[in-house]
Amino acid sequence: MFAKLAASAALRNARAFASRAAPAARASAMPLAIGAGAAVAAFAAPLALEGPRTIAGEYKTASERSFVMIKPDGTSRQIVGKIIDRFESRGYKLVAIKSVVPSEELAKTHYKDLASKPFYPALVKYITSGTPVIAMVWEGKDIIRQGRRMVGATNPLEADPGSVRGQYAVSVGRNIIHASDGFDSATHEIGLWFNESELAEYEPAAWGQIMADN
Ligand code: RTP
Ligand code: MG
Repeated sequence: MFAKLAASAALRNARAFASRAAPAARASAMPLAIGAGAAVAAFAAPLALEGPRTIAGEYKTASERSFVMIKPDGTSRQIVGKIIDRFESRGYKLVAIKSVVPSEELAKTHYKDLASKPFYPALVKYITSGTPVIAMVWEGKDIIRQGRRMVGATNPLEADPGSVRGQYAVSVGRNIIHASDGFDSATHEIGLWFNESELAEYEPAAWGQIMADN
């Protein structure tokens, strides 16, 4: 397993950054950057691609990535550290993080699939309130599915009490946190909020122990 992880780490350097994000809306300004987003490796041209490697890694491997965002209410309530701790303590790898006050264009692009919903204007207003969001990329096996479970159901009333929304939220319109709902959306969202150079390539000390299958 360790050899497999080492091989996958080497392959990660050859990750194909096939982002489908709209470059115009990308979150490029980061005056409040809080670290861990700097690139530590140059991205070479793809060498040997075994599967669909995108900016969100390879689905169902330890390189899988998800976009997770603490929304303005989470920042305002000063529970950023507690939320980050959940992902870190579980063993997931923080690949990128920055504080962003989203523009209307960025918020609308992020939630474009919901444009026809009656709550869409209020959702965009909430995300662009001026209070920063904490945009993050987390990596690890099953991070997309587990990330959604850790976040909890959209409506906090239905969220598991152990989830972020189940512990901290009451209203669907102020549900603290976002996480990508699938591999395609993870690819799109990571590319929307981050540049390739902001995504770090490194291996945490206990990575092999945490990600091993046997
Ligand atoms: P998110 O994208 O933020 O992670 O949330 P989600 O997948 O659990 O739910 P989604 O259907 O994508 O909705 C996006 C966000 O819109 C707000 N919402 N308000 N008032 C309402 O009925 C309503 N429904 C959704 C929530 O902030 C939700 O997280
Ligand atoms: Mg969603």
